[in-house]
Amino acid sequence: MTLSRRGFLGALGISALGVSSFGGALLPAGQTAQLLRSRARLPEPFTVPLTIPPPARQIATDHYEIVQRAESLEILPGLRTPVLTYDGHFPGPTVVSRRGRAITVTHRNELDVPTVVHLHGGHTPAESDGFPTDLLMPVSGAHQGHAMHGGGIIAHGTRDYVYPCDQPAATLWYHDHRMDFTGPQVYRGLAGFHLVHDDEEDALPLPKGERDLPLMITDRAFAEDGSLLYPSRGPEVPGVTEEYMEGVLGDVILVNGRPWPVLEVDAARYRLRLLNASNARRYRLTGLPFTQIGSDGGLLEHPVSLNEVLIAPGERVDVVADFSGLAAGTEVIVHNGLGSGTTAQVMKFRVTRRVQDDSRVPDVLTRFERLDPAKAVRTRDWRFGRGKHGGGDNHGWLVNDRPFDPYRADATVRLGEVEIWRFSTDLHHPVHVHLNPFQVVSSSRSEPPVGWKDTVNLGPAEHVEVAVRFTDHAGRFLVHCHNLEHEDMAMMASYDTV
Ligand code: C2O
Ligand code: CU
Ligand code: CU
Repeated sequence: MTLSRRGFLGALGISALGVSSFGGALLPAGQTAQLLRSRARLPEPFTVPLTIPPPARQIATDHYEIVQRAESLEILPGLRTPVLTYDGHFPGPTVVSRRGRAITVTHRNELDVPTVVHLHGGHTPAESDGFPTDLLMPVSGAHQGHAMHGGGIIAHGTRDYVYPCDQPAATLWYHDHRMDFTGPQVYRGLAGFHLVHDDEEDALPLPKGERDLPLMITDRAFAEDGSLLYPSRGPEVPGVTEEYMEGVLGDVILVNGRPWPVLEVDAARYRLRLLNASNARRYRLTGLPFTQIGSDGGLLEHPVSLNEVLIAPGERVDVVADFSGLAAGTEVIVHNGLGSGTTAQVMKFRVTRRVQDDSRVPDVLTRFERLDPAKAVRTRDWRFGRGKHGGGDNHGWLVNDRPFDPYRADATVRLGEVEIWRFSTDLHHPVHVHLNPFQVVSSSRSEPPVGWKDTVNLGPAEHVEVAVRFTDHAGRFLVHCHNLEHEDMAMMASYDTV
């Protein structure tokens, strides 16, 4: 009952207005999701130092190896949290590559569940894109039964993912994409950064090196013993319990896997590569004057000054934060305008010393190719809404009224053609497209996002039109909601490029 009322309110856009109480149910502001509360002792905010994920392990030229294995990490001070990791780390190690220089990442699955690796934002051939049924089975041989499921290309123990990286410099990320289980597997730790650099970006006077920081923002909830809480319907049962099917929100904000961390910075400019890797939570980040320089697909044409950054699951916003005018000792707190209580703050920067800083943000960042909507060969509709799936009456999330079917292509697109894709929603859905980024050409929102996007934030009863052009790789790819609970409960569709 509560759920349908919540859905109804959401459809009216009421949940976007702020925290409101209706029939006893508390609606989290700007979210389509439910809060899961920690039972563990939580640290005081801004007491745990921020860390930066280590670089990926290189085993040969342009060849990296990542072992997926279970670990127990100290995330909350004094407690151990069992997690699924890429190479023992959460976030996983950062892969750094250069435009036009193909790399191979060999993944070895030492976990006890099948996995799938997807490079989000990567311009990647289908066989390495991580289609949800292209499973990498555990080395141990566990779960062989699943290999029958979905008709994917199954690998046993190890799999080579080949990334051409033939794309502009950008902040990408890799994460698990296993059909029906992406939510729990990403939540338990399977996510990392992949940064693409190029000569054009290197030539710009932007902050670099120690002052170029990837920041992965996630929310989690912890049990008393430090283990992660997640409302699965059962081990190896897809989806979450009824109460959480709109999405899972945690009450602890982690940046690079640290709860409300603090970072000491010079009085200088920093490039912050903000990634929202949360399952369902949106953030409105405030507290810093941000200059946005990049979006999902790379640099913007011109920098944009922002007082706040709205970021939905899957999105990246590259900003330059300017601490150069601040006195040593100044503390800057990044708040979350869409949170309340423990989730209203994210992290803190503490300025330690004055330094020489030659970086700046130039007026022109890149030569930007605008896709011309007038050249589009057709418009396709993709409607994201709740519906019947998997037993429960309303226990599913659908695209164009259909649940995901890995055997079915929902569209066929010719490589090289520009199309208009029209996304529309009932509630909040961050819509993500694989293979090529797109440009927003019209939107029911007053300030549509700029630049090359691969994920677009839609609120309740909104619509967005994007221009998209797929290139180079023929095969089957995905368009889906990046609320991972929605994704696992069938809110995906696929298209073939020919
Ligand atoms: Cu970030 Cu299809 O996923
Ligand atoms: Cu993706
Ligand atoms: Cu959704």
